[in-house]
Amino acid sequence: MRAVTTRPGVPGSLALAELPEPQPTADSLLVDGLAVGICGTDREIVRGEYGSPPAGAEVLVLGHESLGRVRHAPPGSGFSAGDLVAGVVRRPDPEPCGACAHGEFDMCRNGRYTERGIVGRDGYAAQVWSVAPAYAVKLSASLADVGVLVEPASVVAKAWEQVERIGARAWFEPRRVLVTGAGPIGLLAAMMGVQRGLDVHVVDQVTCGPKPVLTERLGASYHTAAVDAVMTELRPDVVIEATAAADVVWAVVGNTAPYGITCLTGVSSAGRQVPADLGALNRSLVLENDVIVGSVNANLRHYAAAAEALARAEPDWLSGLLTRRVPLADWQSAYEPHPEDIKVVLDLTGG
Ligand code: BGC
Repeated sequence: MRAVTTRPGVPGSLALAELPEPQPTADSLLVDGLAVGICGTDREIVRGEYGSPPAGAEVLVLGHESLGRVRHAPPGSGFSAGDLVAGVVRRPDPEPCGACAHGEFDMCRNGRYTERGIVGRDGYAAQVWSVAPAYAVKLSASLADVGVLVEPASVVAKAWEQVERIGARAWFEPRRVLVTGAGPIGLLAAMMGVQRGLDVHVVDQVTCGPKPVLTERLGASYHTAAVDAVMTELRPDVVIEATAAADVVWAVVGNTAPYGITCLTGVSSAGRQVPADLGALNRSLVLENDVIVGSVNANLRHYAAAAEALARAEPDWLSGLLTRRVPLADWQSAYEPHPEDIKVVLDLTGG
């Protein structure tokens, strides 16, 4: 079988390798890989800036946004051959820490977790993969074309859950949300905001192409003005930050409505400095009971919420997020970003 591999830390080592197929076992699902989605984390690993191979190996199979069809399922696993599935990314640390011991491995405290296709564990960018049933999510057959969105949607479902849990510490009835960045995370965050009945706004620099169209099709408003001006105009109750750009982060924090919640979902590179009045930020956070929260990864509860949210969304709108579907024969181009991309998908089913 073929699989996309790289040597973490070694730029230029991306390869389409021929690897032995995993074999059916009594305690794992054997899955035919249909597709993987590609995100900024994959590109960071490809550039040699992030990621690690499994213990004792030099090469990592990439891919954490998975979609596959079960070929073999052990009896009693809850799965059957033919089921559409996505695999969970993170595994608890081996100790495990308290959070991992409670199934909240997305909140791992000691950092010794592993992540398929990212940290210490082979991923899903392979024509055949295996996964423990406890780390697979069954998807509605209606998601056959767009199921690669389950993993990014799980990250967004977790972000929304964080906002709601934090809001629940006192009376909370948010009305307006601003999403910064109209990439896959931002647009899925906007979709889940609309599903919650909120007044949803999205801000991005791009003025044409699918991003404004997809936002408006949701019934949300699209803005291209400077983020600080949009914040002043809207004073949102909730911000979901999905650009990871330091100046955008700085423009949103402390500028929400009172009791505002800003959820940061983007992983930025260090080193970008912006002039900051931390006294003013502190004053605003304290006097308004504002919260800034970081959110990464997702546990099984969030995958289930994501699968459910996607099944409720308009299939056509979801397909619109997949702006480039690359056949395996052209696999390398999937890892090269194009300016008009929203989500790039590598089709694993070709010869
Ligand atoms: C993935 C997360 C992962 C994070 C950090 C993101 O791209 O979606 O599942 O935890 O990278 O490795």
